[in-house]
Amino acid sequence: MSRIAYVNGRFVPKREAVVHIEDRGYQFADAVYEVWALFDGKLADPKGHFARLERSLAELSIDPPMSERALTMVLKETVRRNRVREGLVYLQVSRGVATRDHAFPQAGTPPAVVVTVSRVDRAASEARAAKGVAVITTPENRWGRCDIKTVGLLPNALAKQKAREVGAVEAWFVDDLGLVTEGGSSNAWIVDADGILRTRDTNANILRGVTRLSLLDVAREAGLKVEERPFTPAEAIGAKEAFITGAGTLVLPVVQVDGKRVGDGSPGPVALRLRRLYIERAKASAI
Ligand code: PDD
Repeated sequence: MSRIAYVNGRFVPKREAVVHIEDRGYQFADAVYEVWALFDGKLADPKGHFARLERSLAELSIDPPMSERALTMVLKETVRRNRVREGLVYLQVSRGVATRDHAFPQAGTPPAVVVTVSRVDRAASEARAAKGVAVITTPENRWGRCDIKTVGLLPNALAKQKAREVGAVEAWFVDDLGLVTEGGSSNAWIVDADGILRTRDTNANILRGVTRLSLLDVAREAGLKVEERPFTPAEAIGAKEAFITGAGTLVLPVVQVDGKRVGDGSPGPVALRLRRLYIERAKASAI
């Protein structure tokens, strides 16, 4: 069990870890977050996550709470105190605490910072990947700035609950043009009927997944034909393979979309190979 959280400069037992009732993250979802996969106690894809954090904060004009170096130390110390080797690290930075008013608080209000760590059972994750998972589709109903990693995740939470109720692990949002944008907490990919690896381009209203970006590199290095181009649910069902990516799922084969089989209904060779290559690379570059 992970027991210790970092809250605004202090390491505290989780049951005593609290934030103020007028934290703007709590009242307005005025906060951003990041999630790192942990391999052997080290943070995977550090550069990508720090770069995206910096961008999310800048887009919302929230002051960085500390330097990247100091933040790395805080993240690593939280991991160390929890004695977690395989897991996830969660960081949330809100605009801070102020009497409720929609407009920003006074300049100089310090951002509020929370870090938690959770354990992942890698054997169970590998077993799940070997079997593949189901996804459902649901109409896109999120705001227009999904490129910013904010904690405003209500549509994502509702979509993922809808998925869970039918035994699926993810919900893919589908936009007005009938194209898949991304999952509730992952990016969506297919190996299309022509054997081309496809994932949506980041001009669309999606999160610029760090795993997605690393995997594009991995796939190109592996000599795969890659296109950043959207697809429809029907194309996914008619595809050779489908999968999702994210810090939580890494590369996870999708074998069913809306109850219909993808390919022969088992994880495809490309997805499984990319999972292995991604994990190797993430482990090698973890800090
Ligand atoms: N989610 N799209 C959405 C909407 C996400 O929330 C996430 C990550 C991703 C994948 O991004 P990355 O590869 O950088 O993890 C795509 C995290 C894991 C979460 O909310 O827990």
